[in-house]
Amino acid sequence: MAIQFNFVSSMLILVLLSISSVEGQGGGGGGVIDVVAKFGAKEDEKTDLSKPLLDAWKEACASTSPSKIVIPKGIYFLCTATLDGPCKAPIELQVQGTVKAPADPGAFKEPKWIAFNRIENFKLSGGGVFDGQGTTAYKREGCKGHDYCGSLPINLKFDFLTNAMIQDITTKDSKHPNTDGIHIGRSDGVNVLNSEIKTGDDCVSIGDGSKNLVINGVTCGPGHGISIGSLGLFKNEEPVDGVTVKNCTMTNTSNGVRIKTWPGAEPGTCSNIHFEDITVTNVSSPIIIDQKYCPWNKCKINVFKLTNISFKNIHGTSARPEAVKIICSATLPCENVELADIEITHSGPTGPAVSQCSNVKPKVSGKQNPAACSAPIPAKPTPTA
Ligand SMILES: *[C@@H]1O[C@H](CO)[C@@H](O)[C@H](O)[C@H]1NC(C)=O
Ligand SMILES: *[C@@H]1O[C@H](CO)[C@@H](O)[C@H](O)[C@H]1NC(C)=O
Ligand SMILES: *[C@@H]1O[C@H](CO)[C@@H](O)[C@H](O)[C@H]1NC(C)=O
Ligand SMILES: *[C@@H]1O[C@H](CO)[C@@H](O)[C@H](O)[C@H]1NC(C)=O
Repeated sequence: MAIQFNFVSSMLILVLLSISSVEGQGGGGGGVIDVVAKFGAKEDEKTDLSKPLLDAWKEACASTSPSKIVIPKGIYFLCTATLDGPCKAPIELQVQGTVKAPADPGAFKEPKWIAFNRIENFKLSGGGVFDGQGTTAYKREGCKGHDYCGSLPINLKFDFLTNAMIQDITTKDSKHPNTDGIHIGRSDGVNVLNSEIKTGDDCVSIGDGSKNLVINGVTCGPGHGISIGSLGLFKNEEPVDGVTVKNCTMTNTSNGVRIKTWPGAEPGTCSNIHFEDITVTNVSSPIIIDQKYCPWNKCKINVFKLTNISFKNIHGTSARPEAVKIICSATLPCENVELADIEITHSGPTGPAVSQCSNVKPKVSGKQNPAACSAPIPAKPTPTA
């Protein structure tokens, strides 16, 4: 099972997330490798941690019994590090301190800061902080034409991990221009649990090839909500199949739960998606499927198929009247969409909350406020973030 998990963040305050589960952590008897005591790392905020960390990783990775690398409390400076497997036994990296990236955006040759690659049975833990020092990058304006702009790094990148857990860490102020909190793609069996995400783009962004994904207990805001897509930009995207988003809270976000496909999307599918027990507070578009509304069929044909989508027990307040918007493809209408117990209110000069539908006949049950699909679709849809 290959897990590629691109983790991009900005102003992410507290993250406790796990990617499936770790087996056989060896019960404490295994080797503990302290990067300060054994490899001379310095917590002086200026000596590069790269070499001590890579040396520790090399030793741990070659060990035939489980090992734990410890970065003790303190503030460290780390230029960049890619920790590669495969390794011979399970490894835990326990970060207790704060690890800071170079402030200068020009310091990076590749768009990643700390990367984990091709590892089985891995755990990242320790209560520590990964500080991407992104504010220095945000301040630099007129990015175009500067070579550093194309390679602004993602804080933490996980590619091809199997049986991994990332628990009790904080990542903040990533330099990467797209400030999605967590991006997941081409991964099977990822769980994002009990995490707090504050960012400028999607809190969790779900790309093609995501399967059997569970998101539970995520608090999001500010940000753009929890979003599947946009899908269908490229040929041969892998299906999105089996996503459950449950027990999540969105506050002051531009979207709540969203599925979005590109206009004129390439053929593709997104199925078996369940949004349940979601609280929205002051969210601009709490429930949204956006396959682009084409009043006079003037758009490119959209052959992206959405099937088996449910929205259950979604309640709270909407910052705009369009609380529910389910706009499906005219070429391939959405199939088996369910709306159950929707209770979203809006008050403002533009009137109460409304529910708009196009090319979909949802199955409706329980409370429905606003009344399901009761509002006409305006000729020009309001833009969404
Ligand atoms: C719901 O999410 C909260 C975090 O926001 C978590 O503490 C709680 O355990 C979750 N409840 C269930 C039933 O998963
Ligand atoms: C939401 O926005 C309001 C008004 O700006 C602010 O007072 C409140 O703290 C925000 N809530 C969160 C959780 O960010
Ligand atoms: C609602 O959220 C917007 C940002 O999307 C914010 O400007 C506004 O102050 C918030 N209102 C309340 C009542 O929290
Ligand atoms: C939709 O759900 C039904 C019932 O669970 C299932 O039989 C069908 O295979 C699903 N469709 C897709 C495209 O997954």
